[in-house]
Formats: sequence, C-alpha cells, structure tokens
Amino acid sequence: AGGVERNAGGELAVDGIPVSALKEQFGTPLFVMSESDFRARARAFKDAFDDAFADICGGVDVYYAGKSFLCTAVAAWVADEGLRLDTCSGGELAVAARAGIDGANLSLHGNNKSDAEINRALDMNLGRIVVDSLDELERVAKIAAGRGETAKVMLRLTPGVHAHTHEFIATAHEDQKFGLSMAEDSTAEAGLSAAEEAVAAATSYASVELLGLHCHIGSQIFEPDGFALAAEKLLSFLAAVQAKYSITLPELDLGGGYGIAYTPVDTPRPAADIAKAMAAVVRSKCAELGITAPRISIEPGRAIVGSSTFTLYEVGTLKTVRVDAPAAGSGESAEKNVTHPRRYVSVDGGMSDNARPVLYDADYSAILASRTSAAAPQLSRVVGKHCESGDIVVRDVYLPEDVAAGDLLAVPGTGAYCWALSSNYNYLARPGVVAVRDGSPRLIVRGETEEDLLNRDMGA
Ligand code: LLP
Repeated sequence: AGGVERNAGGELAVDGIPVSALKEQFGTPLFVMSESDFRARARAFKDAFDDAFADICGGVDVYYAGKSFLCTAVAAWVADEGLRLDTCSGGELAVAARAGIDGANLSLHGNNKSDAEINRALDMNLGRIVVDSLDELERVAKIAAGRGETAKVMLRLTPGVHAHTHEFIATAHEDQKFGLSMAEDSTAEAGLSAAEEAVAAATSYASVELLGLHCHIGSQIFEPDGFALAAEKLLSFLAAVQAKYSITLPELDLGGGYGIAYTPVDTPRPAADIAKAMAAVVRSKCAELGITAPRISIEPGRAIVGSSTFTLYEVGTLKTVRVDAPAAGSGESAEKNVTHPRRYVSVDGGMSDNARPVLYDADYSAILASRTSAAAPQLSRVVGKHCESGDIVVRDVYLPEDVAAGDLLAVPGTGAYCWALSSNYNYLARPGVVAVRDGSPRLIVRGETEEDLLNRDMGA
C-alpha cells in the first residue's frame, strides 16, 4: 500500500492516483506525500529500536523531529504510531497543541528559547525541555520557580563527535552554538566542564527536575559508529556525575541524524542495523561502568519523512547551451576546444520550495512523471524559476530528450527540510502538501494564494 508506481498508461501514480489528477486538483508545484509510507517508516523506526534495546531499557522513546516537516496531520500520525514529538520553537509547540498532542510526549529544543516559549512549555506541561546552556538553565529554573512549578529538563551536551554521512570526526572542536561543552575548562571554578557545571546547578535548583542528558551529532549519517561513540562518551559522563553528585539520571537522548538515499549513490545502513550496533555499545558500556542503563530516546526527522514525499513540478521553458566542461557523470572527457551540450529544463518552482541544493549543494534526482518516453536520455539540469542563477533543483540528470513544456516532473525525497525551509522569494506562493492514503488525496497544508502573499503588506 502507498506505493508510487507507473500505471498502465505509463503515468506515475501514488496509491493509484495519477499525477495528472493531482495536478488537476491541486496545481503545481505540489508536495505529494504518501501517508502510508510515512506511517510505515515511523513504525519501522520505533520497532527497530524497541527490539534492539528491549533487554537494555525496555525499549526506546522515538521523538519525531518536527523541524524536518510538521503540520497538524503529521503530528497526529506520529502520535497515532506511538511516537513522541520533538519541537524547537513556540510555533512548533502551537502545531502540537492544535493536533492535541499530550505535553508529556513533547520535547522543546533550541539554543535561544524565549521566556514566552519556556512559559508555553510549562503551560503545556512538557515532558522535557532540552536546555542548551548555563544561561538558559538559570532562566528555566527562575521561570519555573516563579510559577511554583518544576521544569523537567534534559541537558544538551557536545560530546566532541561530529558526523556527516559516512564519516565522523571524533575530536570535533566545540566551537559551535549548540550545547554544553564536555571539555574541562581550566579557567572555570574548580576546572569543571560546562556540562558538569550544568549538572551541578540543575541538581541544586528546587524548580528543576534533571531527567538526563542529550546529544545530537549531525545529520544525514549513514553508519552507526558516530552514534555509538557519542553514546559511550555520554554514558561515561553520566556514570561519573551520578556517582559524584549522588543522583540518578534516568534518561539519555542520542538525537537524530539518520540518513536517507537521495540518489542511488547514497547507501544508508538500515535502521535495524544501526539500532543493533548502538544497542551493543550501550549494553557493554553500561556493564563496564557498572550502571543501570538509562531509558534511551532518539530524534529522527529526515529518516521518517524524507522519502515519503516527492515534489511535482510542471516543465516550462527548455534550452540547450554548449559548455566547455562535460557535466559530471556524462562520461565525456574534457578535451580542449570541444564543447558539450547541457540542457536546461525549467520548472514552476525552485529554491523557494527546495533550498537544499543552494544551501548544502544537495543532490536530488528527477523523473518524467506524466508519461513514459522511448526517446534517448539526455543529460539535463533542472532549474527553478527564480531570478538567481544558483536556483538549481537537480544539477545533472538524464531525462528523455523529448521532455517538453507541460510535462510533469517528480523530484523524490523532498519530505524533509524542503517545505520546512520554503520561502516566498520573488513573491512565489509556497506550495501545498497533499497526503495520499488508501487511494484518496487530502490537502494537509493548503498552498498559498496571491491573496496570502499580499495579506501582510500594509499598503502604500
Ligand atoms: N534533534 C536535534 C537536536 C536536531 O538539531 C535535529 C536536526 C534533529 C534531531 C533531526 O535530525 P534529522 O534526523 O532530521 O537529520 N536543514 C538541514 C538539516 C538540519 C538538521 C538540524 N537539526 C538539511 O536540510 O540537511
């Protein structure tokens, strides 16, 4: 169920609904999400980690990272599948509230939470506020004390592990805005690390209940090694402060960052493998330290929503230019005085609905969605309609050479950090999001209209 496949007419269809029907009903550009795919990935993650950690801490709490994509429908699916929700702003909390998510199943992140956000978290009785700095710890303690309440707090630490895709750096310097440094600070009183200072302070505030520790080592990570090393470092620290301050920290959150395949060169390890590798390390480290394992939680975003969605665009103008250097992957060699064709295929969206190629040099692929074609494949570059030459959707992709205006293209893997990062650059309306389930499409976020765009303009 929830499959995306060609129908008998050669048209791409989601759960049996052809893309032309989606275009007809909702227009383009359009984010097309398979609800069953989203739910299946959410469940798979929860099951894989629950299984791997069952004997260690009775399972894992999975907080879906709302920053990757959030609306009330998705928040409701998440709760429905037994996951919790990680938010990082008052706005995301508002979505969670509207979706009726129980505060106990919510967490709040952020390196600069406002007093209003902290108050909102307390109003909603949040399961955890992930505190990012000593300053913030003091503010949370004060606000909670003023309300005569206790704030449930996790401390975000920087374990000195930074990972991206298949590589990680074990001695990443801590010169970044997030988290409490675990490195001992010789200038601080008693030479304590910021992390330990925070533990000591949190333990001393009557208005703070210190639940445990948190870290997040990066994003789009394919291998378990970085997660495992971070887990070891945090467990060692946890054991040390438990002993020194005579406390018990019942929870440990290992963050998100599980990678997905955007193009065929991406080969992330399956969630079950990563979970098993992490569990093995947690099991042996706790045994070595002689501590009871804390309850483990994780915060995947991209790995749940990323592949559930494709963006549907309509092709407009096309042109072919001749360039000196052959495109990557074209197999052509760069001979002097030889030019190579490059075809530009313009679509009706671009960097306003997918900023990732511009921001991170991210790779995507594209396929002709509205029909099949027997025409020869031609190396093409899919570009948006924005007034910027860097407005590229897919840098190099083979598309049939008869692709023409009016054809529909699908760009897969756009569920995470695309709609979420979308903008109104050049006064383009942000696209809507359609969820397909059991063969029927439902608009879960309406696309903007020209009226929406002019609404906040206060007039001449
Ligand atoms: N937890 C924390 C504390 C985070 O900062 C993040 C992502 C996540 C969980 C979820 O990470 P995920 O599992 O989705 O990788 N805009 C960038 C990604 C930024 C990620 C920021 N933090 C991109 O489009 O690649």
